Parts: sequence; structure tokens; C-alpha cells
Amino acid sequence: MAKIGNIELGAFPLLLAPMEDVSDPPFRALCKEQGADVVYTEFISSEGLIRDAAKSMQKLDIYEKERPVGIQIFGAELDSMLQAVDIVEQSNPDIIDINFGCPVKKVVCKNAGAGILRDIPLMVKLTEEIVKRTKLPVTVKTRLGWDNASIKIVEVAERLQDVGIQAISIHGRTRVQMYKGEADWKPIAEVKNNSRMHIPVFGNGDVDSPEKAVEMRDTFGLDGAMIGRASIGYPWFFKEVKHFFETGRHAAPPTMEERVDAARRHLSMAIDWKGDKLGVFETRRHYTNYFKGIPHFKEYRQKMVTSDDAADVFAAFDEVLEKFGDYQFV
Ligand SMILES: Cc1cc2nc3c(=O)[nH]c(=O)nc-3n(C[C@H](O)[C@H](O)[C@H](O)COP(=O)(O)O)c2cc1C
Repeated sequence: MAKIGNIELGAFPLLLAPMEDVSDPPFRALCKEQGADVVYTEFISSEGLIRDAAKSMQKLDIYEKERPVGIQIFGAELDSMLQAVDIVEQSNPDIIDINFGCPVKKVVCKNAGAGILRDIPLMVKLTEEIVKRTKLPVTVKTRLGWDNASIKIVEVAERLQDVGIQAISIHGRTRVQMYKGEADWKPIAEVKNNSRMHIPVFGNGDVDSPEKAVEMRDTFGLDGAMIGRASIGYPWFFKEVKHFFETGRHAAPPTMEERVDAARRHLSMAIDWKGDKLGVFETRRHYTNYFKGIPHFKEYRQKMVTSDDAADVFAAFDEVLEKFGDYQFV
């Protein structure tokens, strides 16, 4: 049974990965409904929070129905990170997660995200002080190392555990790899196999089928899987993995009615949360996957992803249901 602090997560939990511009409250709520055991916000800049930047503050919003939820912050300045922790606590999340994995240049050049993998003492120090600052459980998400020559994840994970984190999620790539190649889960298993480790070790990277989740659990012996890209526009992924765990068989894919219903609710929640304009705009990226594989669908997809008017997008959903309601997904 995996636990983050006092939060019981059952055997082999599935975690929704933090994803910029994707893991917002509406999407997290849909993933939670479909079986995600923990959801994370996208990364939020500690500096942005301190400046009270509206965009950063809005990222702190959480719905009750998505709990347990972790808010992820990033930064490399101790003072800013501690102030950010105080601000984050006011949103009352269940977990605070530290991003030590973001590979993008504008983040790593400030030593934040995966940049900190070049300065392990700073990484440990920041973590230690954050853990001391809050009563909430603190988790870390990171990568294997900066580059292949500097992978020390077994030692790093142990040191982070020793300063008090309650779980670690490890993406099986280095910073230098960005998203290239295949994620390597072997070093993550080495972290898990370290006899001194007692906190949950969650694997991340390339879990895109129920079989891969089984592999992560049974072959690599990890405590849970963090899932990112496979869930974008496909919140059913969590339920499908769980169905496979329970039965050894693949679940039937969601019907057109279920897909249209999810798309409608996604858009409605997004509009309630962000207003018409942003709600319409920011939900677009999900539709391609919601309706993947349907022949002669281009015209309808076009309407969904180009219309600025919510009423038109809802009308497109109705049309899709009418025209393709009987389509059999495989
Ligand atoms: C669009 C996108 C945005 C991401 N944003 C974040 C982020 O804000 N914080 C973070 O820790 N990782 C972020 N990631 C990395 C994912 O959390 C995850 O580590 C990575 O996608 C590998 O997992 P996957 O193969 O299941 O997608 C992002 C990934 C994608 C595709």
C-alpha cells in the first residue's frame, strides 16, 4: 500500500503528471473521475507567486472533487521558494511538490527545474528547508540526472528522503535527453531497491498502455506510475489501466456518447473556471484525442478547434453525436 504522508493511496496508485497548460482543474477533475489516485497542478513559478502575478495565482485554484491534489512549484532561490510555500498553503492542497525536472532552457538556466541536478547540495538544502516550512507532505519530481555521465539518482533520492520528503516521482530521462529516446526505468528500480528507501518511488515516462503499467509494477517493482501524455484528451486511460490490473483484459474504449459527454463537461468546467474566451481556447488541445481515429472527421475537428464561440463548439459536439453516434471505437 502506497502512502504520501497520511494519504492512503492503495496498491500501485496512478498519478496524473503535472503538465503545463494541461493539468488544470477541469482536466484534473476528469482524470480523478476516471481513476487517477493523485493529481498534480502544472508547475507554478515561485517568483510569479511572490509577485502576485494573476496567471500564477490562478494556477493555485483547486476543486474539492479532485483531492488529493498536489501543487507543484519551481524555483532555485531559497527565500522565494519558502514564501511560495506560504502562499501555496493558503490554497489548502494535500501535497506540495517540488519540480526538479523541468528541462526547458529558461528554467534550467536559473538553476531551477532540472537545472538543479547540477547542484545536488542546493537541491537537498532547498528541499530540507521547504519540508521544515510546511506541515503538508512534500514530494519531489525529478529526472535521472543532468546527463548520462552524472546519474546519481540513487544517492539523490536517499538524501531527499533523509531531509523529509514523503514520496518521489522519477522521470526516466536525463535533462540532456529532454523527451528523446525511451525512458529508462532501470535506474528508478535501483532507487526502489535501495534498502534504505522507505518512501514510495513512483515511475514516470512513456507509460502509454496498460501493459507498460504492469511492467512498471511487476518487472520494475515500483510503487506507482505517474502518467502524463497518455492522458491528454484521454482521461479514460486511468480507468483502462485499472481494469487491466483487475481483469488482465483491455476495457472497451469509451463510446462516442461518453466522449462527447466528457468534451462537453470539460468545456463547461473550463468556461466556469476561466471565462468563455480562455475556456474555449485552452480546451482545444484535448479534442484531437477525444475524437481520435474517426474517419472523415476533419470538418468537425476544425469547428471545435477554430471557433471562438462556446455555443458553436457545443453545437459541434451535438452534431458529432448525431452523425457519428454509432461509431465503434477499437
Ligand atoms: C505538455 C507537457 C507539459 C509538462 N509540464 C510539466 C510541468 O509543469 N511540471 C513537470 O514536473 N513536468 C511537466 N511535464 C513532464 C511530465 O510531467 C512527464 O514527466 C513527462 O511527460 C513524461 O511522462 P509521460 O511519458 O507519461 O508523458 C510536462 C510534459 C508535457 C508533455
